[in-house]
Amino acid sequence: MKYIGKEMSRVDGVAKVTGRAKYAAEFKVNNPAYAFIVQSTIASGTIKSIDVSEAEKLTGVLKVLTHRNALKVEEESRQFRALQSDKILFCGQPVALVVADSFEQARYGANLVKVEYEAETPSTDFAKADKVTSRGPAPRGNPQEAFENSAVKVEAEYSIPIEHHSPMEPHAATAFWEGEKLTIFDKSQGVFGVRGHLARSFGIPAENINVISLFVGGAFGSSLNTNYYPFLTALAAKEVGRPVKLNYTRRQMFTGHGYRPYTMQKVSVGAGLDGKLVSIIHEATTNSSTYEDFTESTSRFGRTLYECPNYDSPYFLVKTDLPTPTWMRAPGAVSGAFAIESAIDELAYELKIDPVELRLINYAEKDPESGRPFSSKALKECFKVGADRFGWAKRKFAPRSMKDGNWLVGWGTAVGTWGAFQAPANAKIRLNADGTVYVGSGTTDIGPGTYTVITIIAAEALGTDPSKIKFELGDTRLPQAPSQGGSITTASVGSAVFGAAGEVRRQLLGYVSGKEGTPLFGAKFEDTELVDGTLRLKGDVAKAMSISEVMKAGGVQLVEVGYESKPSAERQKYTTMAHGAQFVEVKVDENLGIIKVTRVVEATACGRIINPKTSHSQEMGGIVWGIGMALQEATEVDHRYGKMMTTNLADYHVPVNADVHYVETDFVEEKDEIVNELGIKGMGELCLVGIPAAIANAVFHATGRRVRDLPITPDKIL
Ligand code: MOS
Repeated sequence: MKYIGKEMSRVDGVAKVTGRAKYAAEFKVNNPAYAFIVQSTIASGTIKSIDVSEAEKLTGVLKVLTHRNALKVEEESRQFRALQSDKILFCGQPVALVVADSFEQARYGANLVKVEYEAETPSTDFAKADKVTSRGPAPRGNPQEAFENSAVKVEAEYSIPIEHHSPMEPHAATAFWEGEKLTIFDKSQGVFGVRGHLARSFGIPAENINVISLFVGGAFGSSLNTNYYPFLTALAAKEVGRPVKLNYTRRQMFTGHGYRPYTMQKVSVGAGLDGKLVSIIHEATTNSSTYEDFTESTSRFGRTLYECPNYDSPYFLVKTDLPTPTWMRAPGAVSGAFAIESAIDELAYELKIDPVELRLINYAEKDPESGRPFSSKALKECFKVGADRFGWAKRKFAPRSMKDGNWLVGWGTAVGTWGAFQAPANAKIRLNADGTVYVGSGTTDIGPGTYTVITIIAAEALGTDPSKIKFELGDTRLPQAPSQGGSITTASVGSAVFGAAGEVRRQLLGYVSGKEGTPLFGAKFEDTELVDGTLRLKGDVAKAMSISEVMKAGGVQLVEVGYESKPSAERQKYTTMAHGAQFVEVKVDENLGIIKVTRVVEATACGRIINPKTSHSQEMGGIVWGIGMALQEATEVDHRYGKMMTTNLADYHVPVNADVHYVETDFVEEKDEIVNELGIKGMGELCLVGIPAAIANAVFHATGRRVRDLPITPDKIL
């Protein structure tokens, strides 16, 4: 391979650091107006009266929209849409939208809107709320009985607070209408989802709407579902007959989209004295809103983790007067892994077996849930590479047995897994006679480096230098492709581009394979390749023609193809997953309660690595995220008011440079011919999954204290 597997800097890197890359709020439009959201101050109840007269009188204010004058959406949907009724469903709900000539006028006008409420007592206290729904697959074996009869048992409860994505770029949109046609620049992970949502909201055909999302300054799931503001922005633009920009404040970022739900988990693990798992019962409860049921696979992912004959994973929801949660990086998996991988560590200490050894004793060689083989699973190699690089063999088993001056030293481990998913995706390629290439696919790039890896795949498959390739995404005028979420993009869109490149080669070959006297006369498609601007025979590279010669022979100036890739039928016979092993060192000052994550070594096996540079960046990002989740992040809710309190980046802590020390990410590459032709799995969520558990386990090893309630803040150590 000439380009795949080689380090490449981001093709959009210079545009991003010089400000040429335009984000949703930055597009220049003619004579824009600005919209500012007025939010409810209660969490539950009804709007009794709303007085907009003062706001309307303010200089520069063009329009004030409330539930009384805003367009009513006809679509039957449980999804929240703003300004549709006088009912208040959560604190921070939009109750009015002020549109003005400037952002400052709109914001000041928002302060002048007076709302009176009929308030009800909100219910947001998860621990006190009733569990309303339960679901989950049927148990495997007989978990309860097997647990009761187990020689060694661990039973524990783990909790995770609400967390918010807090990307650098606040959510924003710029919208304008040209007659019946709507154009909207949105911070989005999926432009087609936004288009469908707006088409249903306005009752207009999707073809009348174009959604553009060229650059996204982080989203992590917060822009997977269409949020309520694109509708508000488009509605405001329609009402004032001008382009409108809407931009969340940082505070609005804590109520304007979903969040990782509050998660309570009970884990019961039973094992034999030999360490073999006998039974796992993993119960999860998460919160949702009163109007939607948002669920994650918190307790389900563990079912494929270990060889364990008896398994149950019940799942419950509690209804709260809060906005609906949503997917947040490694949704369900990272929360579930915190519980399961902590419990396995607790079991290791009950059994006095090294935590890595215990995981190897229970290693699942095939999927214990379905009995199917894994398409590939290099987790054992990850343990080996990670443990070697970390120096795990030097670990002393007993808690509190390792010290560095005043600091207690702890070493912890955990496993992470994530599905290797693929979704149908479309791409188009135009190859010009001069060797330049245009590639288009309507996915998005929220930061992992999709612009770059797709360019690499196209370069490889077309035998073209990456500098000659222009790849466009994030526009509903491009071929339909999935949202960027679930770590599916490279496997899905990469496969579509790879397939399209194959079609380009097929067409080129068609111009010459029937022509006697050409070097490629009679050549079969599967025996050919495109390399360095030539079409040639694989085993006999002297039999080659330049692309321009081939096109001349065909009497064409360019070749243009569209292609749809789909997950193969073969995949169904396998379980397709990515795996990783994490090794963490913490140092704890018991007197101050300070925890430093001084070293992290993570080895992941996620198929073929297309671009090691951006891939390592992904994995490092996951580790940093895991440090935040383990030690810092929490959205506190004041249950008296049903209000999220830590709604800024001073009170909602995320790791800063001083919190991050040695971080090493290693890949154990897998040659997986089942997942897709290129052997690509996802990695963006995988890298986070085991980290919070590994940190919690390291804290236990350092201190002898098992903290089962995230984040592990100093007060829980003192
Ligand atoms: Mo990710 S939570 O699928 O954006």
